[in-house]
Amino acid sequence: MQHKLFLPIALALGLAVAGSAIAAPPAGRLLASQCAQCHGTNGNGPGFDELAGKSARELRDELLEMKYRGRVEGIMDRQAHGYNDAQIQLIADYLSAQPGGGGGD
Ligand code: HEC
Repeated sequence: MQHKLFLPIALALGLAVAGSAIAAPPAGRLLASQCAQCHGTNGNGPGFDELAGKSARELRDELLEMKYRGRVEGIMDRQAHGYNDAQIQLIADYLSAQPGGGGGD
């Protein structure tokens, strides 16, 4: 029972430290690592819609829309609910700064 709790707690602590900008990798990169399994490493495909290089504003607005639309329908609505608004901004800023052209559109 105790070892099952350890990993989530360790992850939460890791994110908290990264969020305070003490850890080396940018917080946006850590947060966006969740997106890689479906959108490719750094949002650069291959996978579903390519995110790398899109404007930060567009990414943020899309994610906020998914989060606040009031009903949860698709995969992305669930993803967007997992972050607060500041984290969504960090993710959008990080992904927009990544080079695109990895095979998505
Ligand atoms: C489990 C798979 C999965 C994960 C994880 C995932 N996505 Fe998605 N995402 C999708 C799918 C599938 C679509 C396209 C269909 C849809 O919108 O439901 C999509 C669409 C999007 C779009 C819309 C793109 C466009 O051109 O309209 C954005 C923005 C996006 N995802 C951002 C993210 C971000 C940021 C993360 C990480 C926080 C993330 N996704 C994690 C599967 C995923």
